[in-house]
Parts: sequence; structure tokens; C-alpha cells
Amino acid sequence: ARPWRGIIEEYRERLPLAADAPVVTLGEGGTPLVEAPALSARVGARVWLKVEGANPTGSFKDRGMATAISQIAGTDAEMVVCASTGNTSASAAAYAARAGLTCAVVLPAGKIAAGKLAQAIVHGARLVAVDGNFDDCLRLARRLADDYPVALVNSVNPYRLQGQKTAAFEIVDVLGDAPDIHVLPVGNAGNISAYWLGYNEYAGRTTAASMDETATRLEPAATRVPRMWGVQAEGAAPFVKGTTVEHPETVATAIRIGNPASWTLAEAAREDSGGRIDAVTDAQILDAQALLAAEVGVFVEPASAASVAGLLAHAEAGEVPDDARVVCTVTGNGLKDTATALGRAETTTDTVAPTLDAVTDILGL
Ligand code: F0G
Repeated sequence: ARPWRGIIEEYRERLPLAADAPVVTLGEGGTPLVEAPALSARVGARVWLKVEGANPTGSFKDRGMATAISQIAGTDAEMVVCASTGNTSASAAAYAARAGLTCAVVLPAGKIAAGKLAQAIVHGARLVAVDGNFDDCLRLARRLADDYPVALVNSVNPYRLQGQKTAAFEIVDVLGDAPDIHVLPVGNAGNISAYWLGYNEYAGRTTAASMDETATRLEPAATRVPRMWGVQAEGAAPFVKGTTVEHPETVATAIRIGNPASWTLAEAAREDSGGRIDAVTDAQILDAQALLAAEVGVFVEPASAASVAGLLAHAEAGEVPDDARVVCTVTGNGLKDTATALGRAETTTDTVAPTLDAVTDILGL
């Protein structure tokens, strides 16, 4: 076994980067595909989790940031900008630091989990807290990129989806072919579009997000594509409502988005795969987060648990075919937002004397 080299070196022939382009990597990708027997038993299918919280900054954003920042590092740009609900800014700040670029992040004030905010700060980003939501922040970031010498690294930058598509490649590489169903949370809708792109290119087909002929130049590595099942939070579910949501609200702050940028690509993923996009409540999200931690051993942030909450709801409704192969992407690490997780858990705060008696007493031994 050789060490994992990051998504660009691992999948270079399937990425639209020039052979001599700089490679900015923190070793992203190569994340675990973990079987989840506790979910398989509940769902009546075989369920795996693609644990994207294992990326260098703790979310799937690192895949797309590796390609976007590598592309920008080969230009004369000195500053990058993004709007973010937290993970994009954490990742952009880290990759920009690595590349020697200045990073500006435009954030909805008071709606970023503490861990993510800490990441942007320690990596030296310039923070702008806006009295508005993510959709306002993205509008402003786009304006900055249009009118000033600043490169946009949100997922409307096509190099972002190119990097993120590699997660689908990894799943096929491990399972031997595409799963039957792929479930993931949907916010700004870049990631569902990127997975759909990746699955299709591996099967030898292009999608609207394809950038060059690499998809058809290479031998197909998969015989089929999965159905794409997207999951939104009920208070921030524009795809379920069929229209934008002016005041999105959910405990899963990462997907607190009402006007997703990749609307058309995500709808194509849903339609062309015979898939669906549904909504779950905040309570379902937090229950799924607790179940994943307590029974599967994987601590994810609330937005990530939305995918599992959606799968459980569909299983309950009898909508998951028996023995289907199902992959759920859990997009971000639970350590990014400990406040939300601990807000529900029962924690013992009693402090005891440093004696064996006192400890065994507490443990009931
Ligand atoms: N899960 C997590 C943990 C996220 O951070 C995001 C998006 C999503 C799911 C949804 O992915 O936007 O591609 O549909 N976070 C962005 C950010 C918006 O700014 O970090 P999407």
C-alpha cells in the first residue's frame, strides 16, 4: 500500500487541471467508507457511511478547495473570497494559507458553529460578519469577485465540483460499482451536483457540470449510476417547496440556505437519476445525529445527520428496496459544533474526590 496523495494526484487524469499546474493539497480525500450495521438493520438494506468529516479541515469542502485553490494558485490572483455557513470558510482559509493567498470570508453573523469560526480565524482569514443569511453573503461574495481582483471559491466556481466529484470515484473504487442509492444533505446544492457528475463520468457519461472530454476519453470504471436522494431541513427546503425560501431556519446551520446556487444541476441530478429530494425536521436531524454517535460510532454535525434522518424516514415508509446498497455521505465532523450536540445530551457534571470508592460509586461498580 502506498500513502494517499490527495485527490489531485490520485485522480489527475479525470480532473481538468493542466499537467504543470501547481498542486495545493493537504492530503484530502481517501476518506473511510464505513459499514453501518445499526443502520442496515433498521433500514433493511446494506448501508455505508462516506465519512467526510475525516478530511483535513473536517468536511467534504476540502476536495473542492484543493482543485479550486490549485487552479487559482496558477494565476496572478492574490485574494480569494467565499460566502459560507462555516465549512467552506474553514476549508478556504486553510487551503489559502497553504497557497500563500489572502482569504476573505463573508458569513451570516451569529449563525456559524464555534469550531468552524475558530478554523477561519486560526488560518488567518479576514472575517466579515453580515447581518443577513447565507444567501445575502453569497450575493455579496459574487459582487466582490465580479468587481474586484478577488477569486470566488464558492461551488459556483466550476473547479469546486470537479474536486468534489472524486468522492463518488472513491465509493465506486471500494464497492466495485456504484451503489443503488446515494443519500446526502442538500444546502447550496453543489455537492449533490458533484456526486452526480462523478458517478456519471466514472460510467463514461458527461453531465452539464462536465468541463472537458476526460469523462469519455477514459475507460469507464463503473457500469451504472445510483439514484440520488437529497435531504433538506424542513425550514430550509427550497427544492421540496419548488421555490426559494426567504427566511431559512434550521438547527443544521450548515444547510440554512434558501436560494441554492446549483439549482439547475441539482434538479437534473434528481430527475436524471430517478431520485428525490425531501425534507426532515430538526428533531429528526438531532435524533439521527444521536443515533449515529451512540450506535454507529461516528460523530457528525447536524447537517450531515440530515442524510441519515432522510434515509430512516424513507425506510419507515417502506420506500427502500430490500437489500439495496445504500451510501450516505456524512459531510462534516461533529467536533465542529459541540454546543448543539451537548445541548441535548445528558452530561454528568458532578466532581468527586480522587478515590477509587468515589469513582466506582459513580459508575455503579
Ligand atoms: N453538509 C455540510 C456539513 C455543509 O457544510 C454543507 C454546505 C452541506 C452539507 C450542503 O452542501 O451546499 O453543497 O449542498 N456548506 C456550505 C458552507 C454552504 O458554506 O460551508 P451543499
